[in-house]
Amino acid sequence: MNWEQAWLKYEQDETGTYASFLSSITLKGHSEVLDTAVKELQLAAAAMYGIIPHVNESEKIPHEGIHLVVGDNDMAIGTEGYKIESYGGLITVYGESDVGVLYGVFGVLRLMRSGGIPDGYQGVEIPDNPLRMLNHWDNMDGSIERGYSGESFFFKSGEVIVSERIMDYTRLNASIGINGVVINNVNVAGAAIDLITEKYREPLKTYSDIFRAHGIKLYLSLDYAAPMDIGGLDTCDPLDEQVITWWQRTLDALYSELPDMGGFLIKADSEGRPGPFSYGRTHAEGANMLGKIVAPYGGIILWRCFVYNCTQDWRDTTQDRASASYDHFIPLDGAFDDNVILQIKNGPMDFQVREPVSPLLGAMKATNQVLEFQAAQEYTGQQRHVCYLVPMWKEVLDFRTHCASENDRVRDVVAGRTYAMKHSGIAAVANTGNDSNWTGHDLAAANYYGFGRLIWKTSLTSEEIAEEWVCQTFNREAVDVICNMLMKSWPAYEKYTSPLGIGWMVNPGHHYGPNVDGYEYDMFGTYHRADHLAMGVDRTEAGTGYIDQYFPKNKRMYSSTVTCPESLLLFFHRIPYSYQLSTGKTLIQHIYDAHYEGVETVSEMLEQWTALEGTVEALPYMRVKKRLEHQLDHAGLWRDVVNSYFYRKTLIEDEKGRKLY
Ligand code: GCU
Repeated sequence: MNWEQAWLKYEQDETGTYASFLSSITLKGHSEVLDTAVKELQLAAAAMYGIIPHVNESEKIPHEGIHLVVGDNDMAIGTEGYKIESYGGLITVYGESDVGVLYGVFGVLRLMRSGGIPDGYQGVEIPDNPLRMLNHWDNMDGSIERGYSGESFFFKSGEVIVSERIMDYTRLNASIGINGVVINNVNVAGAAIDLITEKYREPLKTYSDIFRAHGIKLYLSLDYAAPMDIGGLDTCDPLDEQVITWWQRTLDALYSELPDMGGFLIKADSEGRPGPFSYGRTHAEGANMLGKIVAPYGGIILWRCFVYNCTQDWRDTTQDRASASYDHFIPLDGAFDDNVILQIKNGPMDFQVREPVSPLLGAMKATNQVLEFQAAQEYTGQQRHVCYLVPMWKEVLDFRTHCASENDRVRDVVAGRTYAMKHSGIAAVANTGNDSNWTGHDLAAANYYGFGRLIWKTSLTSEEIAEEWVCQTFNREAVDVICNMLMKSWPAYEKYTSPLGIGWMVNPGHHYGPNVDGYEYDMFGTYHRADHLAMGVDRTEAGTGYIDQYFPKNKRMYSSTVTCPESLLLFFHRIPYSYQLSTGKTLIQHIYDAHYEGVETVSEMLEQWTALEGTVEALPYMRVKKRLEHQLDHAGLWRDVVNSYFYRKTLIEDEKGRKLY
């Protein structure tokens, strides 16, 4: 096996604390999901204590061991929730369904290896979000768009790979509560267009079977132009009868062999992708056509809102890429079928290190919504830098949209608490690949793990999640140091890259490393608009008017430089370099200082890690050390490129007299 087990490695426990519990498992009846639960307990028992648990099929309540109970309790815990109780020598896991029990088993194993399960323990867990999804941007040639962990483990040379690794991947997902996986890139091209055809049925059936036994549904990204690209038609107009018939036939055939398919994800009319616009049709017409076809199968259509004009004219300062999604989708509120869900990126731009929350979230009162995060660190260090994203995601989830007088936070909206939505939840662009540690950087696995845990229970703190993950991945002795490193990593990355919400400043194309004007002089509409006097984009009513998209309280907050959160100042306002921030520093001095501080933090992180030699296993120790050394160099480059750019633009000296190039 050339891959590791990440947080499911079940290291040997010399204390023997849970050995007696893991020596017998009692349950009544069978199902593939229950079998999965039993297998996981067996795996853990063998690895932690070298024992093979005795499995009893019995209706009687046992005196000891682990008891799995389906359906037999009076708590309203929903189809995916679970309850754990520990009394004397017995741990009982209740679920209303088999999947609830499976999640409960993973819950028990997590507790055993992190917080512990004291006698008398009782805990109920019900997932906050109905849809908990990963989106892989994997291509069928094996490459991964924005992938930083090797190649795809789903695809290679135009084929779907069926290997043991899929099983371990699925276990990792189930252990953190993921219940839907899109395996192919939203930019569907080449062989991937054929994934919906007979050609790939067999391996996809295998995937679907493995997923189903772990409570997960398989989804595919669709090419909207498939009726033309592989169907031989000369249109993909969603209202054309021939087009509708082609989709109906193709998806009926797919569902007849893969009845568990969750549905489809579509990127339409975006960055050159085909879509309903070309035929004068709306996104609702485009999406509902597919929605109607999959509805009888219980399928859903996830329709992405990442739609903007990528050939914006820089002279037109009223045009604003940030406004695009809202402008496109708000007029369609209420027009989507109830099995169509709009998938909205967390910010209005594109996964920058700091962005305001997308004003679309909460603004559509009659449309299903799924929030999209990016665990792949496209703009946050590409898994060569440590950047623990859970604190960023929490800020997004905690944001009050003011769309209602209560339950108006993003986490309420996407959990379906604010408006009655039939489907809602959270997805993330996955950060995995076939590297032996799954995520390239060992510490990036905290984002994979953390995403699942956070969207299961949005009240968990970033620290709690980090601690759980470190206990299961490394060991308890390393918790304080690694948690501390993780918690300071996002603020540090933000400090040494682009300041106060302006974003970008990366090399175009691959998006790694500093290039302040990289996107300034192209057509993508991602401007900082820096000259020798000021920088930032005026998005108030005097500027692009973007702030109008927020509910009044937020609009007021963003409209003034005094009430706008400073971390987003340059996103919403054009600010002179001499402007004084709340710290008393000028904007230019803030830029200089923040860049030095960010690099300082990385240097501390490297020292902290080095002190862990011998405490964490040698292989991950070396891997992380190497990446931290690179991060330190690269952060220094960011600092020098950004600081010297602004020094040369402004000719304002650093008050501290440091070397600016
Ligand atoms: C970004 C990213 C692309 C991706 C796109 C999307 O622009 O750089 O690689 O295709 O987002 O989310 O669709």
